[in-house]
Amino acid sequence: MKHKRSSTYLTTISWENDCVKLIDQTKLPEDLEVITCSTYLEVAEAIKRLAIRGAPAIGVAAAMGLALCAVKSSSSTKSKLMNDLKTAYQVLLETRPTAINLKWGLDMIIDEALKYDTIEEIKRNTVLCAIKMSEEDIATNKKLGRFGSYLINDGDVVMTHCNAGALATVSYGTALGVIRSVKESGKKISVIATETRPVMQGSRLTAFELVHDDIDVSLIPDTAVGHLMANKMIDKVIVGADRILRTGHVYNKIGTYQVALLSKSHGIPFYVAAPLSTFDLKNNISDIVIEERSVEEVIKIGDKRIAPTGVRIFNPAFDLTPPELIAGIITEKGVITAPYERNLTNLFNNEIKQTVSTHHSGKKI
Ligand code: MRU
Repeated sequence: MKHKRSSTYLTTISWENDCVKLIDQTKLPEDLEVITCSTYLEVAEAIKRLAIRGAPAIGVAAAMGLALCAVKSSSSTKSKLMNDLKTAYQVLLETRPTAINLKWGLDMIIDEALKYDTIEEIKRNTVLCAIKMSEEDIATNKKLGRFGSYLINDGDVVMTHCNAGALATVSYGTALGVIRSVKESGKKISVIATETRPVMQGSRLTAFELVHDDIDVSLIPDTAVGHLMANKMIDKVIVGADRILRTGHVYNKIGTYQVALLSKSHGIPFYVAAPLSTFDLKNNISDIVIEERSVEEVIKIGDKRIAPTGVRIFNPAFDLTPPELIAGIITEKGVITAPYERNLTNLFNNEIKQTVSTHHSGKKI
C-alpha cells in the first residue's frame, strides 16, 4: 500500500524570535493555548508543571531552554557564558528525573557550545542545534512510525496508554506516530485510549489529538483494560517510553506494566515505540529514579477532593516493564526483538560504526 502525505499535525514546541513557544498541555482539552517562554527558567517551570511533557518533547524543550540561556546571556567571555550554561543545565536537568531524553537534549547543546570559540558563534550554533533537534524529532518519528506500521493489520484495534503522540514529541508522535503511519498507508485502524490516571494524559491528550486528526478513538477507564482484552476487543498494544535500558527494560507512564502483564496473559502483542534518544545503555535499574509527583494529583479531580484527609498517598509517575513482556521495540532504525541485550548492543555498535565512517568520509584525507 502507498503512504499518503500527512496533513497538518499539532506542533507542540517551536523556536520563534528568540523565544520558545509551546502548547500549554495543562489547558487541554478545553483550550489549545500557546505560551511563550523567553527565559530558560520559564522553560524549566513549564516542564515541571507538565505544560510540556512526554520524553522527546521535554528533551527538545530542555535543549531550547539551554539555547535560550545562551542567547539571552550578557556574559562577555566564553568561560562566563559556559558557566551560565552550566547553571541552566543543572536547573533544567532537575525538572524531571525519569526520561533520559532530557539529559540527551541538554548534552547535545553543551557539546555544540564546546565546539566554538566566540560568544557569537556559541549563541548562533546552539540555537541552530536546538532547531535542528526539533526538525529531526519529526523525521525520526515518521521513520519509526513507518517501521511500526508494518506490524499492524488492516482493521486492527490498537490500545495505547498515556500519551505518546504529537503532544509528547515535537509532532507526529512515537506510539501515535505508528497509528498515523498506518492511517496514511490506507489501512483501517481504530484506537483504544486508556484515561491514564491520575494526570489523564490518555483522555485529555491522546483522545484530543486523535479526534483532532480524525482518527477513530474510544476512551476507556484504566480499570477496563483486562475486560476488553478478555473479550478479544484489542489486537495489539503500542506505548511510548521514557527510558529503555540495554537489557530492554522499559520505563513508561505508571500503569504500563499492568497493561503489559495483561497483554501477555491474553496473548496480545505489546510493543514499545521510542527513538534511540530514549535508550540508556549505561545505567542499571538501581540507578534510575522514578519520579514521585504531588499527592494533589491523586486526592483531587479538578478542585473536588476525592479522598479523605489523613489518608496516606503514594503517587509514582512511572513504572518498569521487563523485556519478557515486550513483543518488540519500534525505533527509527527498525523493530528490535528479543534477545534485547544482544540486539540492542549490535544496533548501537552499528550506529557508532556508521557515525565514525560518516565522519571519516566527510574528511578529505
Ligand atoms: O508524565 P508524562 O506525561 O511526561 O509521561 C509521558 C509518558 O510516560 C510517555 O508515555 C512517554 O514519555 C513517551 S512519549 C513519546
